[in-house]
Amino acid sequence: MTYDFDAITDRTRSNSVKYDEAEKKFGTKDLIPLWIADMDFPTARPIIDAMAERNKNGIFGYTSRPDSYFESIRDWQVKRNGWIFDTALASFCPGVVPALSAIIDRFSGEGDAVLFFTPVYSEFFSVTRTCGRTPLTVPLLEKGGGAVDIDFDAFEKALQKKPSLFILCHPHNPLGRVWKKSELQKIAELCVRYKVPVISDEIHSDLMLWGNKHIPFASVSPEAASCTITCTSATKTFNLAGLQASTIIFPDKAAKEKFDAFWHRIDVHRNNCFSVVAVEAAFRYGEEWLEQVLHYIEANMKYVKEYIDTNIPRIKTYIPESTYLMWLDCRGLGFTGDELAEFMAKKARLGLNDGRAFGADAGYMRINVACPRSILTKALTQLKEAVEKK
Ligand SMILES: Cc1ncc(COP(=O)(O)O)c(C=O)c1O
Repeated sequence: MTYDFDAITDRTRSNSVKYDEAEKKFGTKDLIPLWIADMDFPTARPIIDAMAERNKNGIFGYTSRPDSYFESIRDWQVKRNGWIFDTALASFCPGVVPALSAIIDRFSGEGDAVLFFTPVYSEFFSVTRTCGRTPLTVPLLEKGGGAVDIDFDAFEKALQKKPSLFILCHPHNPLGRVWKKSELQKIAELCVRYKVPVISDEIHSDLMLWGNKHIPFASVSPEAASCTITCTSATKTFNLAGLQASTIIFPDKAAKEKFDAFWHRIDVHRNNCFSVVAVEAAFRYGEEWLEQVLHYIEANMKYVKEYIDTNIPRIKTYIPESTYLMWLDCRGLGFTGDELAEFMAKKARLGLNDGRAFGADAGYMRINVACPRSILTKALTQLKEAVEKK
């Protein structure tokens, strides 16, 4: 079927964080929310149908997870990424962030360093700190025009400081960078050499644009497979974050048992009856929707880039290789970090993510373009007018 991503769906009565918590976050509700990473599009029809069918039963008792659940995830990985993992080494978790927290808790000690590249998804900082660990960061090298490289010398020096874990955002949020095989192999080689286990956060890995291909980190070499915990999910791919389900894949039984024990202790190991059916329907029947939504996102990105280049040249942006997130370099507007945040929320009336939350310097903003084009048109017009009045 053909999906209509131009259609507007009213999210204001759906307890949406993006809409209903915007006022708390930005100090005003008079804005267009383009922040937290979910999409303003209804999910794939087969997922909605599977959930409706489950709903018809009317009994929502304790729910088990059939083998076919993890098999659908494995089959998806095989088909899309050529990666065959052992379903016996996969665990359910309510989310990737809870998984990061549990892994840090179980696989490192109080006060240890947790390494990652910056800028990066803000929760890498917060879960590390909440667990009583210390972020150890290696800035990515920005080369202009959206190109970023890994500073391998700085990475090796950081590994020599013996962090307990390295978290790779793969592909990268917020910069949308897709890591190449040679880069992944080099990361793996260094992490193996310095005996630093890797958490590969691959939640955005299905959101590959422009024909880019995702290479699961654990698939790059047997050595990488032996030291990597992979975090995946249907929730970013199919816009199901409210269902709370992710899949964590371990290198061996001992690591899986260590993780599972954490969740058994607090009795969080069963699944929500809707996410059981939704995740399986997504991976078995959702691909048609995914291909269409990715085309729509690509067109949105081109649109945003062209609009900004033509009408707001003091802001610089580029088209990323993956995700539905774009990175805006607003340093040309001449604001301090706080002034820029205030300007975006109160003058441009846009709810964007402040780049500083990702560990970036002041002057950057992240915009989520997974919304109908007409919302972007309105947002960009507001931004242009605010910049002109400045
Ligand atoms: C890199 C990354 N990891 C994890 C998450 C959130 O994962 P979950 O909702 O499964 O906790 C996000 C959400 O934006 C993300 O960008």
